Amino acid sequence: MYPDCLKIQLHEDKMIDQKKSCIKDDWPGYSLDLFSYPAHYTGDLDCVIIPHGVIMDRTERLARNIMDDLGDHAIVVLCVLKGGYQFCADLVDRIKDLSHNSNRTIPMTVHFIRLKSYLNDESTEDLHILGGEDLSFLAGKNVLVVEGIVGTGKTMKTLLKHVEAFGPKMIKVAGLLVKRVPHSSACVPDYVGFEIPNRFVVGYALDYNEYFRDLNHICVISNTGKMKYKI
Ligand code: HPA
Ligand code: MG
Repeated sequence: MYPDCLKIQLHEDKMIDQKKSCIKDDWPGYSLDLFSYPAHYTGDLDCVIIPHGVIMDRTERLARNIMDDLGDHAIVVLCVLKGGYQFCADLVDRIKDLSHNSNRTIPMTVHFIRLKSYLNDESTEDLHILGGEDLSFLAGKNVLVVEGIVGTGKTMKTLLKHVEAFGPKMIKVAGLLVKRVPHSSACVPDYVGFEIPNRFVVGYALDYNEYFRDLNHICVISNTGKMKYKI
């Protein structure tokens, strides 16, 4: 779809963006006292690693990048539940805003697929695809997979294989967070919000055993929090 020179440019832009969006290992985060958050999580969090407003501002820019690359054709959005729902909703809203405010409106449909691979803060070997088994409507379409967080990349790799089997014309991946983990499978999203240190984060729909989805900021969970909500 793109000439080779443009492909190389897009790849380089992606690498530069990823470097700029990197949150370093020694970033202490913001003190929780600086922001408001639900009182029921008092003591369960170490710090705010990305405040809600910053997530929203970054999402707006990602929406623009996506529009620049994909905005000439219909987009089929595939939201990866549950952790991706908030990012997907906000990203789709921003794409809609940009689309309405320009003279190139793009048709968009939004679909959902549900995955589960984490218990406590550990990735389990068996990935379950719990919804969206029949994705035959993706055939010949430009698909945007939207994920909240990419850890080892194993989940994403398995999911992409599953999606590819339905014959889409193109697949792009938007991930709000990419975690710097050892042994990652080099499955990096095309659009990355932030690259983060290898710490377990919660909030903005990311959970620890289903808790913390009702937190607006992305925070690092404390040991107390892990103990309290452990299964
Ligand atoms: N938080 C929540 N879900 C996750 C994470 C995380 O840090 N890594 C992979 N899935
Ligand atoms: Mg989870």
